[in-house]
Amino acid sequence: MRAAIIGGTGVYGMQVDSRVERVSTPFGTVEVDLCRFGDKEIVFLARHGRKHSTPPHLINFRANMRALKELDVKYIYATGAVGSCNERFNPGEIVLLKDFIDFTKQRPVTFYDGKEGVIHASMADPYCKNLRELFWQEAQKEGLKVAGEAVYVCTEGPRFETAAEIKMYSRLGGDVVGMTNVPEVVLAKELGMCYAAVGIITNWCTGMGREVELEEIMAAVESNKTNLTNLFVKILLHAELAQNNCQCSKALMKL
Ligand code: HPA
Repeated sequence: MRAAIIGGTGVYGMQVDSRVERVSTPFGTVEVDLCRFGDKEIVFLARHGRKHSTPPHLINFRANMRALKELDVKYIYATGAVGSCNERFNPGEIVLLKDFIDFTKQRPVTFYDGKEGVIHASMADPYCKNLRELFWQEAQKEGLKVAGEAVYVCTEGPRFETAAEIKMYSRLGGDVVGMTNVPEVVLAKELGMCYAAVGIITNWCTGMGREVELEEIMAAVESNKTNLTNLFVKILLHAELAQNNCQCSKALMKL
């Protein structure tokens, strides 16, 4: 069994001893880092590629998640840059994702296209309850401030949203907006893996105040990324990880 970290915008690797592994899947080949921590390994995957060369709507999510499965990964923490459409959550802060609303339009969203029968994945707990709880506990111990739990709205991108769209997302119950967490979280569930994600708030969403500035996005990620990945590593290496108290490995229903 292995654990993995998926790095979003600005999080492209970890400063530790590592080797590159290429994993071939039916959806394409994926390059990951196998990062060494004593006698253990954590898989690191840069969602947009190491040089941020893949835009959100073209990420090969199925290849990425299948590659992690091939590497026997069961537990995943991910980061993602997000804008805030909730006055309570400010740029520069981090939030733990607790649910999502899907506004993507044209991505392959499942591994189950009918060949194995009709399969539905439960989204009662899209983000693993155990991994979320462990993250809260450890963040508190380490003094890492987490602004709260957030509902993530996933847009198709690559464009940013209009002010009218943001008003709608906010009224529907969204707190933060990003372009990549769906279908990643869904595919993890389809593969029976525990998955949790942290949003790094890089900007106010369109119409919430100021325009999105690239420098701001990168500064917010820079100031959070090392603390965050260190915390993920600490949990993944030292916590008692088990799938007994969550439904992540039993979320599929076959009709
Ligand atoms: N919208 C969508 N995705 C994002 C944003 C945003 O405002 N900021 C960072 N990723």
